[in-house]
Amino acid sequence: MNKENWLKRGYVDEPVAQGLDLKAEIRKLCKEKHAVILGHYYQSDEIQEIADFIGDSLALAQWAAKTDAEIIVMCGVHFMGETAKILCPDKKVLIPDLNAGCSLADSCPAEAFAQFVKDHPGYTVISYVNTSAAVKAVTDVVVTSTNAKQIVESFPADEKIIFGPDRNLGSYINSITGRNMLLWNGACHVHEKFSVEKIIELKKQYPEAAVLVHPECKGTVAKLADKIGSTAGLLKFAMASELKDFIVATESGILYEMRKKCPEKNFIPVPPEDGASACNECNYMRMNTLEKLYLTLKHEWPEVKVDEEVAKKAIRPIRNMLEISEKLGL
Ligand code: 13P
Ligand code: SF4
Repeated sequence: MNKENWLKRGYVDEPVAQGLDLKAEIRKLCKEKHAVILGHYYQSDEIQEIADFIGDSLALAQWAAKTDAEIIVMCGVHFMGETAKILCPDKKVLIPDLNAGCSLADSCPAEAFAQFVKDHPGYTVISYVNTSAAVKAVTDVVVTSTNAKQIVESFPADEKIIFGPDRNLGSYINSITGRNMLLWNGACHVHEKFSVEKIIELKKQYPEAAVLVHPECKGTVAKLADKIGSTAGLLKFAMASELKDFIVATESGILYEMRKKCPEKNFIPVPPEDGASACNECNYMRMNTLEKLYLTLKHEWPEVKVDEEVAKKAIRPIRNMLEISEKLGL
């Protein structure tokens, strides 16, 4: 065991015996250690296959809040692990690779955001879940793309609101609610890459297709959408639709569950503007691999840690989100 090397890398760097049945070993370790694997829709197919539960960011937080497992392995990105840890301070929360960050969360440094909040007294602060625990600590309510509209609308129409960090989701919510929230200028590098041109090209090939767009995409892309929604929202739309073809503008991991739930339908991922044939994958989400997942469970490392003082402040806006979502039946 070379822990120094692991620390340097941010994941367990240990050779795995050739021919080892990783999936069987992972299931065995989960049982022995009373661990649960939560996976986001943007994980690789093989991780989604082995996870106990897969879902969008809201569902992952809801699941973490109610699990009685002793160990939670978050197959997602770091802020998802932090949210689980804040909700379950007494549990061990593991993540297969500590480097699995998020460009959107990084576009909102905690100190600068806290200053922005200070500069606008009298504003209610609504933050997207894709933020660090320190940003959540200066937030009133956390939202995800599944519940953002309803949570914003739960405030009086004249409420002065700061919304961070995603400018695309924020402008979209402003446009559908008629609000004028003050927006933080952040964005996700994966969703910003979707272009109008690529969608129009695909639309020529599949004229009957519905265009499914995540609200983290730019407004020009969202204008082409038949449905704008969170990963869970897009999946639900595809399942209920009579149509056969769907052009999907979000991270391509969601196609695994779409194809599983609707094997008779055709899901076409929109390629990024700078790569002719590649799919849009989140390099952070894809840092988690089956091998790293196995090693994480084996060594119970790396663990997601949140500063206790920060966690004490960040739990309130997360709980506020869960309570409002429950009331709204989300
Ligand atoms: P949802 O799963 O809530 O749609 O969020 C997408 C995302 O970018 C997660 O990082
Ligand atoms: Fe963050 Fe974007 Fe990756 Fe989601 S897809 S985890 S918002 S970088």
